[in-house]
Amino acid sequence: MNGTVLVAYGSTNGSTAEIAEHIGEVLAKEGLDVDVRPASDVADLVPYGAVVLGGGLYGGRWQRDARRFARRHRKALAERPVWLFSSGPLDPSASERNIPPAPGVRRVMYHVDPRGHATFGGRLEGDVKGRIARMIVKSGRGGDFRDFERIGTWAAMVARDLQAPEG
Ligand SMILES: Cc1cc2nc3c(=O)[nH]c(=O)nc-3n(C[C@H](O)[C@H](O)[C@H](O)COP(=O)(O)O)c2cc1C
Repeated sequence: MNGTVLVAYGSTNGSTAEIAEHIGEVLAKEGLDVDVRPASDVADLVPYGAVVLGGGLYGGRWQRDARRFARRHRKALAERPVWLFSSGPLDPSASERNIPPAPGVRRVMYHVDPRGHATFGGRLEGDVKGRIARMIVKSGRGGDFRDFERIGTWAAMVARDLQAPEG
């Protein structure tokens, strides 16, 4: 793989953005050139040799910016190594087992043909956007279920794959 790795994310309440930043830090530590950007900010994939794309889960699909990114760059994504991640579950389940991609994400995978997908736990707490989100937090069902150790292990695996001779 030649060139910079783009880590792009769609995040409404900021937790997927922090996961993307962590993935970017691990990829950089492993020796890759990395650019971490909100999915809505990226106009062109020409500068990038590979893409990690992630979205927060809302109602079984990715947050809008991640969905739009996948649609807009479908052709360029098909020509590059791509890894996907979702962040969502507000319980420890994502740390305990592999959670398959949500139905909306499976549709993206059909078009993009990624090398892999991971679901990480989500976070919903504090000052959140949206009526349902505020209800979840108020009812005590929110919290931070992100497992940065697992995220780091996954990112290191992505780095090894991209640095492999055929990566
Ligand atoms: C309205 C709403 C719908 C959600 N739907 C899902 C879902 O379908 N699956 C899931 O795993 N998590 C779901 N979640 C949890 C979010 O994905 C989680 O809070 C995530 O960390 C949000 O990412 P963000 O902070 O980057 O926006 C939902 C949260 C809200 C507020």
